[in-house]
Amino acid sequence: MVLQNQLDRGVAMKILVTGGAGFIGSNFIRYMMEAYPDIEIVNMDILTYAGNLENLAGIDENPSYAFFRGDISSSEDVGKIFSSHSFDAVVNFAAESHVDRSLHFGPQVFIKTNILGTQLLLDAARESGVARFVQISTDEVYGSLGPEGSFSETTPLAPNNPYAATKAGADFMVRAAAHSHGVDAVVTRCSNNFGPYQFPEKLIPLMIANAMEDKELPVYGDGMHVRDWIHVRDHCKAVDAVLRSGRPGDVYNIGSMYDVPNLEVVRTILKHLNKPESLIRFVKDRPGHDRRYAMDATKIRDELGWTPDNTFDDAIQKTIDWYLGNRSWLERVRSGKYASYYESMYMGR
Ligand code: NAD
Ligand code: TYD
Repeated sequence: MVLQNQLDRGVAMKILVTGGAGFIGSNFIRYMMEAYPDIEIVNMDILTYAGNLENLAGIDENPSYAFFRGDISSSEDVGKIFSSHSFDAVVNFAAESHVDRSLHFGPQVFIKTNILGTQLLLDAARESGVARFVQISTDEVYGSLGPEGSFSETTPLAPNNPYAATKAGADFMVRAAAHSHGVDAVVTRCSNNFGPYQFPEKLIPLMIANAMEDKELPVYGDGMHVRDWIHVRDHCKAVDAVLRSGRPGDVYNIGSMYDVPNLEVVRTILKHLNKPESLIRFVKDRPGHDRRYAMDATKIRDELGWTPDNTFDDAIQKTIDWYLGNRSWLERVRSGKYASYYESMYMGR
């Protein structure tokens, strides 16, 4: 509530955003700087393959924004940033975020960043008396659904892949910090995001990018796996609501209830781009591939009054338009240091 009052009255507050050079983090920084002219944001990001300062073009000139290149899993880096600033809140987006990478290259870096990194931030937040800690988690911690039903905040955690397991581990560390040490921490669990600046390793930007270049679109298994899609801006709006007025120690599910099979998503993209379905290539399935995710977001709607602004169709159109209008961003991201990444990633599929 303290933060709600501060933000609503336009009182200056300083937030540490981690992973702010990635997809959702950069959209969140943009969203917050537009919504609250008095806010100060420090972005801590180590700039992995997924971190790109170009995602913050325009923002980096704002005197209320600062960038610190640092690793959340290094106590030295975390110590440095907390000793140079006094933060009102921490929003932790920094993570290794791709399921396929956690399967192909092993979970070590996921454990280090997603679990250890979160713990170091929690410790530093506690020691420096930060008023609120928001942990950005995912629906994947709940595991997979059968043909019916959806995940609620009380669904038991049952992660099925290494990425999801490390995100669940972090959620438990947040819970323990709140319970044992009284840290004012809240966890958000959102469904699959899409929108501008998403690294083209995830389904929607990969399919858009490949279709734009008339390359094959690799669909895993039978393509009937279902994800619950949300536009990144609606996710940012929900995180803002939780930051301001979520209940300490609680979990909030976030989702727009657009659950769509992957094959339908891919066909929609091809249709919008006027490309043939012959570009679709069914490839070997992801090991242990979760069949269906669907989020029940009743709690955040009822308690915090959050609602998404975008329909799936509008959001897909806007996203495709963004990639069409930002071909040079896409080209830079897909070439150079990322080229070998793509080769190794899809080899053998
Ligand atoms: P992303 O991979 O685009 O960005 C992650 C960012 O974290 C990058 O900028 C990277 O450089 C940074 N980072 C990685 N390791 C770091 C470290 N050790 N120290 C500092 N920075 C580090 O990911 P995203 O899709 O923007 O996801 C952001 C968060 O949202 C993640 O925590 C993810 O689990 C969660 N989430 C993502 C989705 C989705 O659909 N993308 C859905 C729900 C939740
Ligand atoms: P992804 O974007 O990797 O997100 P997540 O695994 O976190 O849900 O994948 C979304 C869905 O799309 C998932 O069911 C796997 C599938 N998929 C493909 O069929 N082909 C691809 O090339 C990719 C990257 C994903």
